[in-house]
Amino acid sequence: MTEVGNKVVVVGAGLMGHGIAHAFASAGHRVTLVDIDAAALEKAKGKIDEIIAGGIKLGKVTLEAGEATRAALSTSTALAASAEGADLLIETATELLPVKLDILREVDPALPAHAIIGTNTSALSVTEIAGACADPARVVGMHFFNPVHKMKLLELVVGLATSPETLARARAYGEAVGKAVIAVNDSPGLTTSRMSAMLGNEAMWMLSEGVASAEDIDTALRLGFNHPMGPLELGDLTGWDTRLKVLQYLHGVLGDKFRPCPLILKMVKAGRIGRKAGAGVYRYDEEGRKIAGSGLKGSYL
Ligand SMILES: NC(=O)c1ccc[n+]([C@@H]2O[C@H](COP(=O)([O-])OP(=O)(O)OC[C@H]3O[C@@H](n4cnc5c(N)ncnc54)[C@H](O)[C@@H]3O)[C@@H](O)[C@H]2O)c1
Repeated sequence: MTEVGNKVVVVGAGLMGHGIAHAFASAGHRVTLVDIDAAALEKAKGKIDEIIAGGIKLGKVTLEAGEATRAALSTSTALAASAEGADLLIETATELLPVKLDILREVDPALPAHAIIGTNTSALSVTEIAGACADPARVVGMHFFNPVHKMKLLELVVGLATSPETLARARAYGEAVGKAVIAVNDSPGLTTSRMSAMLGNEAMWMLSEGVASAEDIDTALRLGFNHPMGPLELGDLTGWDTRLKVLQYLHGVLGDKFRPCPLILKMVKAGRIGRKAGAGVYRYDEEGRKIAGSGLKGSYL
């Protein structure tokens, strides 16, 4: 079995960072969660408490285990100091290349020589991110899914320079936190984002062409293929603004099959970007619940 160290640093305490920090702390690692924004750290602690409380309520977590998870976690705004003595550092800050490069440039000299670095980027090149480190062999993509405590998959991304040892250790860390681990080569959109972008775009083309209503397209995928959500519902959850950025990027690097459906551009221009805005393909009430029968009906070109 591959040996992994116990000290984990998670950089970025947003939607993904708090989930990743919780996953490692509840599996018995010592975790420091780092963010430039102290308010984000407070919010993340609250979210982790909610996950623990939810587990206790469902009888999946004991009170003692919940306490142990809390005790294993600390937070900090001091990036380089937190990296000292770490065995694994996971970068999960804002999805902007300059932000990720700056973080890695700062932590790389502070980390012990044996430490490995995982980046949770959804779409950026791991090879390019690794270029910020003196030894890019220690960098690997560790793509977790939201919400981390419920989603089983960990997609490891092998950059051009990632060493087999780094990959093996990242796999062992993933398995230690109970994930099913796959490995893919560094390529645009990996497997998951590329497939999901294609499916969501195609569903939008069908809606535009008047092939079927939004509800019927989503029902087709949910009941015909056992997908837990339809592609239009999922696009509303992810946000069509984010979806559009991914599609534009994939269109640029992989060609015409990823040309964004004009209806997505129209919706983004209109601010109808999904659940977070109260309306996307569907409309949502104040609690964020989908309003029955509110889906777009078709022929929107
Ligand atoms: N949201 C998803 O469903 C999802 C799924 C898989 C992967 N990802 C990836 O995870 C990463 C984070 O996404 P998110 O949705 O959690 O974003 P988010 O906006 O919720 O959180 C990002 C956090 O990074 C912090 N940050 C920014 N610059 C920093 C710096 N220099 N040092 C320390 N902290 C810094 C911000 O203050 C913020 O708290 C991105 O790379 C994203 O592509 C997101």
